[in-house]
Amino acid sequence: MENLYLPQLAVIDQIVDETPDTKTFTLHFLDERYNKAFSYKPGQFVEVSVFGKGEAPFGLCSNPLRKGNFRITVRATGTVTNALHEAKVGDVFGVRGPLGNSFPFEEVMGHDILIVAGGIGLPPLRSLIEPIFDKRNKFGEFTILYGARTPTDRVYKDALEEWAARDDVRLLQTVDRADETWTGPVGVVTTLFEKIKVDPKRTFAFTCGPPIMIRFVIQDLLAMGFADDHIISTLERYMKCGVGKCGHCAIGHKYICVDGPVFSWRQIKVLPER
Ligand SMILES: Cc1cc2nc3c(=O)[nH]c(=O)nc-3n(C[C@H](O)[C@H](O)[C@H](O)COP(=O)(O)OP(=O)(O)OC[C@H]3O[C@@H](n4cnc5c(N)ncnc54)[C@H](O)[C@@H]3O)c2cc1C
Ligand code: FES
Repeated sequence: MENLYLPQLAVIDQIVDETPDTKTFTLHFLDERYNKAFSYKPGQFVEVSVFGKGEAPFGLCSNPLRKGNFRITVRATGTVTNALHEAKVGDVFGVRGPLGNSFPFEEVMGHDILIVAGGIGLPPLRSLIEPIFDKRNKFGEFTILYGARTPTDRVYKDALEEWAARDDVRLLQTVDRADETWTGPVGVVTTLFEKIKVDPKRTFAFTCGPPIMIRFVIQDLLAMGFADDHIISTLERYMKCGVGKCGHCAIGHKYICVDGPVFSWRQIKVLPER
């Protein structure tokens, strides 16, 4: 990124309806040179500007090992996200990034991996899950736990079906409220812990979801014997610049936009409020 504040123009290639309030957008940069050079790591985010509306950060949910385009999954909650939900294929937006730090990837090769996702927390983790599948023989046991409010509120239903059919990953899903289509477990995502076997010494746990879920997940992981730096989470704060200049996202001495959004529990537990 030559200028931290200068968005590059990106066009929508595809829009997928995930849930009644969430859509996934595939985009590529109009400048082919920039598009070819664009590379990012699992867990990084971009700032997307909708002309005349504003700018907001979104986690990259595509596979960083595949080039040519990138994806974001957006829940409609306010000005920018509602404007994005009105967009059509071919519409153009401004994109700054990639921004922020990333999930450890090479560093956790050779270990077992446990992913614990809640609701719209799955998108940033998907940017880690897909490269793990690409380099599957570099990792040990692979377990994904996913919880959503209802079966309809689950994002990436096609991908979940594919992952469930694989024999090199264990995917367990649960919902808070079942409907007539649901035959799986009912309950919060932490109720899935009793159904799996993990060796905390060999395993790195990655979690993303609503703050209340993350709190309970971390509490249970610690009780299971996970070390502080084997628990990796994301922190979300209201952001403006996204590049460490405005101070909007500060928690204590950390700026979530540049020091994060990915932190280990060892780093999070010493922050003044989390
Ligand atoms: C690193 C990061 C990654 C993210 N990734 C995703 C993602 O992948 N998908 C996704 O859907 N969302 C993601 N978000 C959240 C998204 O950026 C926010 O929800 C954003 O505010 C939406 O912009 P908006 O203009 O649509 O909503 P806004 O109009 O900003 O309103 C959204 C909500 O924020 C509240 N709000 C507005 N201003 C403030 C303020 N100053 N302080 C506190 N709260 C305020 C509003 O009351 C409302 O409830 C991410 C956020 C971060 C920080
Ligand atoms: S959003 Fe401006 S410093 Fe982090």
